[in-house]
Amino acid sequence: MCGIVGYVGKRQASGICLDGLKRLEYRGYDSAGISVLTEDGQLNSLKTVGKLSILCEALQQKPLSGALGIGHTRWATHGRPSQENSHPHISGNSRIAVVHNGIIENYQELREGLIRDGVKFASQTDSETMAHLVQKHYDGDLREAVCRAVRELHGAFAFGVICADSPGQLVAVRRFSPLVVGIGEGENFIASDMGAIRKETDKVYVIDDNEVASLTAEGVELTGLDGAAIEREVFVIPWPAEAAEKGGHKHFMHKEIHEQPDTIRACLTGRVASPDRPIMLDGLGLSEDEIRNMRRVVFTACGTAYHAGMTGRFLMEKLARIPSEVDLAAELRDRDPMVLDHTLCVVISQSGETADTLAALRSMKEKGAKILAVLNVVDSSIARESDGVIYIQAGPEIGVASTKCYTSQTLTLTMLALYFSQVRGTLTEDELRSYRQELLRLPESAKVLLAREDAIREVALKHYERTDALYLARGVNVPSAMEGALKMKEISYIHAEGYSAGEMKHGPIALIEPKCFTVAIAIAGEVYEKMIGNIMEIKARSGPMIVVATDGDARIPDAGVDPHAESDDFSAQPNDMVWVPPMPEMLSPILLGIPLQLLSYHTADLRGKDIDQPRNLAKTVTVE
Ligand code: F6R
Repeated sequence: MCGIVGYVGKRQASGICLDGLKRLEYRGYDSAGISVLTEDGQLNSLKTVGKLSILCEALQQKPLSGALGIGHTRWATHGRPSQENSHPHISGNSRIAVVHNGIIENYQELREGLIRDGVKFASQTDSETMAHLVQKHYDGDLREAVCRAVRELHGAFAFGVICADSPGQLVAVRRFSPLVVGIGEGENFIASDMGAIRKETDKVYVIDDNEVASLTAEGVELTGLDGAAIEREVFVIPWPAEAAEKGGHKHFMHKEIHEQPDTIRACLTGRVASPDRPIMLDGLGLSEDEIRNMRRVVFTACGTAYHAGMTGRFLMEKLARIPSEVDLAAELRDRDPMVLDHTLCVVISQSGETADTLAALRSMKEKGAKILAVLNVVDSSIARESDGVIYIQAGPEIGVASTKCYTSQTLTLTMLALYFSQVRGTLTEDELRSYRQELLRLPESAKVLLAREDAIREVALKHYERTDALYLARGVNVPSAMEGALKMKEISYIHAEGYSAGEMKHGPIALIEPKCFTVAIAIAGEVYEKMIGNIMEIKARSGPMIVVATDGDARIPDAGVDPHAESDDFSAQPNDMVWVPPMPEMLSPILLGIPLQLLSYHTADLRGKDIDQPRNLAKTVTVE
């Protein structure tokens, strides 16, 4: 996830791009850069490593002058944060500058072809490929050159492109990564989101996949990749400029919950290309033989990442048939685990800096385990000490309570289990194809879940004043229950516990009373009948009940309802429902975080809590 902006008009482009980048810094802060075309046709660029403030200082020392420009703030995916990997990337002839958000899946292949044609690459990024491709296809028409280049690409992208030989023109294009065009008077803009340009205009075109925008100071032309003109209604941004940083959302947490269709897609990109192609996972640091000979996998992490690890453990054993276990990082080292040959330790962390996770990693490494890290932040301490790293590619997470990163961690660990199954032959080709097909549907299912937010808020309205909550599930969704409870307690301060529903009768059932609501996950699948039994037991004890169930399930709304009970007794009332679309049970933990995050979010909001910065918590915990 990176942020891109662009400007064409009569004012100084660098200041406007910089201002837009400030509002996009939430999308990445590994490096930043701006390219501007001067009036005499020079393409000048300035790039700096680190936060945007460093670029601001550099621009004060060395201003860039010109009324056409593009800018970028980077979240590293291919190539570490460095000067040469910073955007904009420049073509070999120094005439074309490109900013990119997304991942070019086939960049290796394209890069090799370009190198054979004599092109010299200056960076390790996938993005630089685009600058050289546009140069290759440029014969006087920048829009056409961009279209031809894009036809060669697989993957997800939004690009902004300028060329010294096409002064006064900015071309932008997207596929799967967000892009808007801002409409001004005598000037126009591009950006990754509306917030970046809201200060300049409230009128935008929202660009769709495989659409190209060609901007000049005077106007905007929208076409398909085939050049056919596209008519688009102007969208008027309904929120004020002050709300820009959060893209119109009240809290970063809300914004990040809503980013999940995009972050899920980014996580799949380059890994699951089609139902018929095997899953590809780069960077594992393990040979296929090592995967075949693996005898044990130990997952370890803290907090939310630990819940993702619980799902990883379940699926690694169930699908790839490798004995697996999961441990809280703070506990793993202290129990002095025995590490046999051929043991893999998978450490999971958003920040890559969590002290307990780092300590667990070091102890497992010392005992001879191979270390594979599942991380979000690139170049972290955990990344440096691991044998292999898979990045979840979710972009910066600002809300203290993890949302999109949990979903992407769970997705990554699911892909890891499926990849190991592929290599070890523990699933049939038909089963694998069906999983890949379902994985590719996840971004759309996430959209469906988010569209049901109002109904979830209604449920929150009924229960937000209660004091306690019990989250119950079975099987693969026990971690979903635990994560749901963690989210609820950390932002709403309602005391919440996540349990295996099978454990309920061994203690937690004593909590059931009208002030304690239960959230039961009872979607269609292997454990459904048993969950109904648990719901009935809670209803019989007058507990308020919220059920997460599959669309069309006619049994659950009235499960356990006693028509003879007093009308104000919860036993007499139908269950409150959180409906979810049908999904394969084994993949459901990837999606079920979303409605549970929304339930916690709205409960906390109704209780008036400081959602982005809950009391006593920090985003990165660097002490044990
Ligand atoms: C809860 C949350 C924390 C983190 C935990 C680990 O919403 O965000 O529980 O998951 O502190 O942090 P990372 O993933 O950075 O190692």
